[in-house]
Amino acid sequence: KDDDAAAMLEAHELLKKFYHHLLVNTKEGQDALDYLLKRGFTKESIEQFEIGYSLNSWNFAVKFLANRGFSLPLMEEAGLLVKKNDGSDFLDRFRNRIMFPILDHHGNTIAFSGRVMTDEQPKYLNSPETKLFNKSKVLYNFSKARLHIRKHHQAVLLEGFADVISASLAGVQHSVAAMGTALTGEQAKVLKRNSAEVILCYDSDKAGMDAVLRSAKTLSQAGAEVKVAMIPDGLDPDDYIQRFGAEKFQHDVIGASVSVMTFKMHYFKKGRNLQNEADRLEYIEQILKEIAALKNSLEQEIYVKQLAREYALGLDVLKERLSELSRTME
Ligand code: GTP
Ligand code: MN
Ligand code: MN
Ligand code: MN
Ligand code: MN
Repeated sequence: KDDDAAAMLEAHELLKKFYHHLLVNTKEGQDALDYLLKRGFTKESIEQFEIGYSLNSWNFAVKFLANRGFSLPLMEEAGLLVKKNDGSDFLDRFRNRIMFPILDHHGNTIAFSGRVMTDEQPKYLNSPETKLFNKSKVLYNFSKARLHIRKHHQAVLLEGFADVISASLAGVQHSVAAMGTALTGEQAKVLKRNSAEVILCYDSDKAGMDAVLRSAKTLSQAGAEVKVAMIPDGLDPDDYIQRFGAEKFQHDVIGASVSVMTFKMHYFKKGRNLQNEADRLEYIEQILKEIAALKNSLEQEIYVKQLAREYALGLDVLKERLSELSRTME
């Protein structure tokens, strides 16, 4: 019912403001605030992204919501509360966590993601799927980034909330993230509708780079132009910005983004010793297969030439192998 949805939205709005108040103004929120500031979050980022803190309590939200007349079963449906194991009572879903509000594309708060301040698991706890929150559709920060995305004809897609917040504060305001999962076709379409080009800037670890390949495919299928911005080994965009600053992030990372094929040429070299003939051959075959899969013959020409130059191979031989590979792919 519409009334239920309205109550769920209002509860999120009220709790968001209270979590934020707890973080910035109270003794109970001091450790959480210290944690954030120590990580490089600023007063400004905490305000802009309305970051909060959920108390270390089993029933703070229960009482907060009950006192304001919200139906507790409805609040459970909204993902803010959970039912006690024996079904007798309601408990807070989010306890002792840094709270990141998740807004829909109009700017309504529809969910939360809560981060622990220790190395406990799960690191991030998200609201479940609800009537308001459809994970596969929402992009974190899209409501704020939309105008910037349109102006730049470009969107920057990052992995995590902290990455988006740091990037935005570093002047890359056309930044968004999926909900910690693989980019969906629906999210890709949203980006494509608002920008010609999407720059993928994921964590520089195996998981992040594999995710680049998957997201690049999803975005291409949605008709977006894809580029990849690479971060040095082991860091994520947030780490990079904390360490090297906004200027270098803008110029040496986002400004230095490369084509997906160039990213693959770089990535597939990892763990191989290209001095070794067998490794080199495998690598060249792997890249040729990627080139064979390209639709645009001009692009194919450019990358085959690049490969020929890099490995001092005859262009004819490479092209012959390329057409063999193209045939077997059909
Ligand atoms: P920080 O450690 O706070 O800097 O987070 P991060 O964004 O660097 O985390 P990481 O690279 O490990 O993961 C990227 C994104 O995946 C996060 O921003 C979350 O959205 C999501 N994620 C990470 N850990 C979890 C988890 O335990 N549960 C869920 N549901 N999502 C997670
Ligand atoms: Mn801008
Ligand atoms: Mn990661
Ligand atoms: Mn990360
Ligand atoms: Mn991080």
